[in-house]
Amino acid sequence: MYKNIYINNIFNKLSKYLKKKYISKLIILLDKNTKKYCLKYLLNNINFVKIKIIVIKNGEKNKNIYTCIKIWKKLIIYNIDKNSIIINLGGGVITDIGGFIASLFKRGLKFINIPTTFLGMIDASIGGKNGINFYNYKNEIGIIKNPIMILIDFNYLKTLPKNEILSGLGELLKYGLIYNKKLWNILKKINFNNYKNIPWKLIIKKAILIKTKIVDKDPEELLGLRKILNFGHTIGHAIESFFLYKKKKITHGEAISLGMICESWISKKINNLKKKEYKDIYKTILKYYKIRKIYKKNFNKIYNFIKNDKKNYNNNIYFSLLEKIGKCSYNKKVNKKLILMSIEKMNNINEQNKKY
Ligand SMILES: NC(=O)c1ccc[n+]([C@@H]2O[C@H](COP(=O)([O-])OP(=O)(O)OC[C@H]3O[C@@H](n4cnc5c(N)ncnc54)[C@H](O)[C@@H]3O)[C@@H](O)[C@H]2O)c1
Ligand SMILES: [Zn+2]
Repeated sequence: MYKNIYINNIFNKLSKYLKKKYISKLIILLDKNTKKYCLKYLLNNINFVKIKIIVIKNGEKNKNIYTCIKIWKKLIIYNIDKNSIIINLGGGVITDIGGFIASLFKRGLKFINIPTTFLGMIDASIGGKNGINFYNYKNEIGIIKNPIMILIDFNYLKTLPKNEILSGLGELLKYGLIYNKKLWNILKKINFNNYKNIPWKLIIKKAILIKTKIVDKDPEELLGLRKILNFGHTIGHAIESFFLYKKKKITHGEAISLGMICESWISKKINNLKKKEYKDIYKTILKYYKIRKIYKKNFNKIYNFIKNDKKNYNNNIYFSLLEKIGKCSYNKKVNKKLILMSIEKMNNINEQNKKY
């Protein structure tokens, strides 16, 4: 497969690595669910004695500095030195926060990602972005550093709840939209509501290939190309942050799917996306998610979140927008009026949904 990403025989790879290097301790970072569902399978398959386990609470709201402090304190209590390795066993929250704490502890410990969610396998564990939320803003504090290995085992998907499978689907659809129309057409034919029949290996491999291709061309997001991965995320992150602030639940994939509907509408308005494709996009997305209407009185709150997007500069807001399905452009300036209109349009796609 791709450089340090392994899909088959992951425990072989891991065991070989652990044997080859001098490693003083292995720390396994988990959340409550991955402790319950994922830890045993890992422990049964590795042969290493000096293991320390650190468990944090699950959920996006815990991806914050307070959790980092708790983990760093544990690392000190456990006497963790520079020859120790952290294994992040979990979804995007664990790999984001685990990569972050590892990169900063003693100026950097090596870490390995073992993603256990669909979203983690195709997106969050790959690309070297690590970070935490801060002051209600998503991924506001972070660092780019790659894990030494990413180990993917589909067995972990067996215990994943359906809404979490659908969360990964949001990012998967995004890959088709921004980079590969063929993939989009394949995905349209699969029924993700019946996930027993999903060709996991095929789609996960395709998704990883797209993500790594894009990241490789622009690892630090200096050239700009990497920004296309943010399609749907400017408004999507604002929706996610808004729900976090309101203490209401929404998965990352659901939020960015709604963001993709809004941003496809903007793409239609100012980036030549055809109306037919715009409709194709929202109809496909709405097979899996309901519109979460947003009250007009909350538009300003959403807008304030958007104003803080990392792609902005000089007080202007820049989007990654579709030209057509399979092709995305970036650094597209969009004004407030159009942004808010896109949310209004999303609200009205289907009248009978609940408001937030
Ligand atoms: N760094 C990146 O490039 C990048 C990219 C995309 C998303 N992200 C981040 O990833 C996060 C979302 O990731 P996520 O969707 O994996 O969420 P998550 O880590 O919160 O996992 C979702 C839920 O599933 C549970 N879970 C995990 N694995 C399980 C398993 N095998 N069986 C049963 N339950 C399991 C978790 O405990 C959690 O409750 C967000 O914070 C987002 O910002 C980062
Ligand atoms: Zn995302």
